[in-house]
Amino acid sequence: MPAIEIRPDIHWIGVNDRTTDLFEGLWPITQAGVSYNSYLVNDERKAIIDLAKGFKADEFLDQIAQVMDLATLDYVVVNHVEPDHTGILRTLRRIAPQATILCSEKARAMLEGFYQIAENVRTVADGETLSLGQHTLQFLSTPFLHWPETMMTYETTQQVLFSCDAFGGYGALQGAIFDDECLAPDFYAREALRYYVNIVAVFSRPVLKAIDQLKDVPVQVIAPSHGLIWRQNPGRIVELYRQWASYATTPPPVGVALIYGSMYGNSEEMMNAVAQGVSGAGVPVEIFDVARTHSSYILPALWVNRGVIVGAPTYEGGLFPAMVHALDMAERKHIRNRKTAYFGSYGWGGGGRKEFERLAESLKWEVLDTFEFRGGPTEEDLEKAQEFGAQFAQAIRG
Ligand code: FEO
Repeated sequence: MPAIEIRPDIHWIGVNDRTTDLFEGLWPITQAGVSYNSYLVNDERKAIIDLAKGFKADEFLDQIAQVMDLATLDYVVVNHVEPDHTGILRTLRRIAPQATILCSEKARAMLEGFYQIAENVRTVADGETLSLGQHTLQFLSTPFLHWPETMMTYETTQQVLFSCDAFGGYGALQGAIFDDECLAPDFYAREALRYYVNIVAVFSRPVLKAIDQLKDVPVQVIAPSHGLIWRQNPGRIVELYRQWASYATTPPPVGVALIYGSMYGNSEEMMNAVAQGVSGAGVPVEIFDVARTHSSYILPALWVNRGVIVGAPTYEGGLFPAMVHALDMAERKHIRNRKTAYFGSYGWGGGGRKEFERLAESLKWEVLDTFEFRGGPTEEDLEKAQEFGAQFAQAIRG
């Protein structure tokens, strides 16, 4: 895509990534894609704010060339060192060695570690300003959004906040780069949530701190490094992030994530009866087969629902391994304080429930009920499962 002016002399120069299978080598983005948004302030002194992954170098450099001559670049602002925003830094440095890199103190050591770049690097302090001529940049320290070195850059005259990972989302840009031109708001909201839970959720406290820190900063445009640029309603993405971050410490809305695994369909049959019970009680339910769904898609449901029902059989004396993995990912992402219940099939000695209870304790999830059955469910088991679902739904609503 060509460079796009987002405010006078402030240009978006991002690139879409539709070929990387796994973001961070872990999270599937084959279908949604992702954008690496970079920005160029073309003033008396010229600055690029955040870069892109080390690919599509020609496209990235061509976008810059549409606006200015790289030989005249004065600054590269590195808000965050993670290589999705700096992968192209060494290439840029070879072409424009005169440009000074501006970053936080912690980022300086990281740049040396990742890229062996130490020359012509200047650290900036929280609140420090830099005049480019008609535009002024202010650097705001926002550690752990998403790494400890992270900062945001605020352009004071046009009131543009370059927020890097914060307020970003998965989803390559589909022609439109602005919220008011976007024809697929639900897609971006869904992918922003998935991105939030996959990448940012562990740092929810710093998110709330940063939002509080920004409350007196007048912002016309939020220009994150992934996803849509918010110029019509920047408050919308801030509010979504505030809401999602709050679920780290306060109960999310009434709803159930029903995650299950099934070897021969017995636990699945029970799952359907449990889902009938939950749904019949008027509580929304999201259902995932843990063996067939990447945790990237399961984690958001665990994050935004108050209740988690786990249905999985015993496997070799413990819990079905795909379920253990899903719960381990929940643990790694600090999804705490949910209400939970377990059901599952066993062939002879059991063991699934015991391992579930151990994992639930570690997650600090409150176990409201458990229900095991031998082999395939009987009519009586299915009735019991429906009642089990209904009672769980009523308990989390209460
Ligand atoms: Fe988009 Fe933490 O990098």
